Amino acid sequence: MSVMSKPVFASDFGTSYYKYGPWWIMKTGPDMIENRGYFPKISKVSAEIRGVKVREVVVGPEVSEFLESRADLSRLYYPMRNGIIERGDDKGWKVVKELVRYGLLKYHPGSTDTTGVPFHGFFVVASLAAQAPTYMYERLFEIHREINEEEGNLVRAVTIIPQPLAVAIAERAVTCVVIEAGHGNTQVTPISRDVIKAALIPLNRGGSDSDRIAAQILKDLGYSDLAREEKFVRIFKESVGLLPLNIEKSIEWTKDHPSALQSVFKIPGTTVEVDMGDKVWQRFLIGEYFFNPGHEIFESYYVRGFTPPKDTLVGGEVIPGDVSLAEAVKRAISKTPVELQSSIAKNIILSGGGFNWSVPKGLEGIAADSPTKMKFMMRELGLDTQPKMVSDPQFSVWRGAIVYGMAIGEGIKWDWRKMEGWLYLS
Ligand SMILES: Nc1ncnc2c1ncn2[C@@H]1O[C@H](COP(=O)(O)OP(=O)(O)OP(=O)(O)O)[C@@H](O)[C@H]1O
Ligand SMILES: [Mg+2]
Repeated sequence: MSVMSKPVFASDFGTSYYKYGPWWIMKTGPDMIENRGYFPKISKVSAEIRGVKVREVVVGPEVSEFLESRADLSRLYYPMRNGIIERGDDKGWKVVKELVRYGLLKYHPGSTDTTGVPFHGFFVVASLAAQAPTYMYERLFEIHREINEEEGNLVRAVTIIPQPLAVAIAERAVTCVVIEAGHGNTQVTPISRDVIKAALIPLNRGGSDSDRIAAQILKDLGYSDLAREEKFVRIFKESVGLLPLNIEKSIEWTKDHPSALQSVFKIPGTTVEVDMGDKVWQRFLIGEYFFNPGHEIFESYYVRGFTPPKDTLVGGEVIPGDVSLAEAVKRAISKTPVELQSSIAKNIILSGGGFNWSVPKGLEGIAADSPTKMKFMMRELGLDTQPKMVSDPQFSVWRGAIVYGMAIGEGIKWDWRKMEGWLYLS
């Protein structure tokens, strides 16, 4: 590869995954490691005797080695569980710093690139949740500065972009509402050139909520041990969970067609078999819960102590945690200037792994993909829309960040008022 063109490197800090890589892997997509760090118990003496470098925090694939040998989960830290790291969360920021270092070192071409052209550091586009407060921007800039000093020549300049804006850029959309739904949070984000901050609705909701209901279902089926294993629950959710078009109709249909839905599952990558028996209709609860945790069908779970997603406070208004996604979109649009509302509503873009539902063969019209479900729900609220999904839901933030980095001229300096431009480190 040649770094003759601006060496842009993009990073997307998700609540479950950190996605990163330089522009030249645009075709294949970014690398992805879990957004987490492990703080090993360090015995300096024994480490030094064995000639092992003592590290305070470990990130990347190596983490699983620590987990296998010690299984001390309390030393495992996920810094961004809802998209935000608290100012004083030293542990969280240490993890972020190591993730940044890890990704950059992996792709650092050395002092020259393969064609002999001197390399002066990456132009880094980092992507954060739209609700990220200013101190997160400051701290992230600072982390890049520290790493550049510690490693030398790694970063030339940094900019930071809200995740939904990166999606809009990747989709070349100017006026739209981007719903970015990953593992831990969902950002319902009206955009007209820039994010309309006053209309942004961040929800404490994501794929992880489908994991929670999936774990409860497993428990009720008698698989309590499995329900405690996060990784297993995730695999179960992704292979068994379904998104119903209309939950009542889907359940009715399942009861009328008792053998139409697969009910016994070998879970990929494990030796486990789960038999759902006559509870097979619960497969639909897993997808529905993410779209509408306020549906009365979940009442029986709440009564037993299962908790709905937490409320969010935006501009003094409480958005209930169990609001339906359609209602949240409607509310967000209603907060934008009236003359923009219809053009924003025309362009609803779904992005993020939380929307990654597909329709198995034979279940057309019963199960739905996310745009179809969203359209259906919006229509129930009296709104005619044509939601569409990005082609690569888990990577569109990263792709948009690369496109953005390529597009901003090197001469544009970071401006705290506009929140754009390059902050030069060297
Ligand atoms: N086929 C699938 N079916 C259901 N869920 C899926 C599927 N593929 C991915 N997911 C879910 O998508 C989520 C991860 O999405 P993504 O990578 O966009 O999140 P993130 O960027 O780490 O988090 P966030 O954007 O919330 O900060 C996980 O909950 C994962 O289980
Ligand atoms: Mg994300």
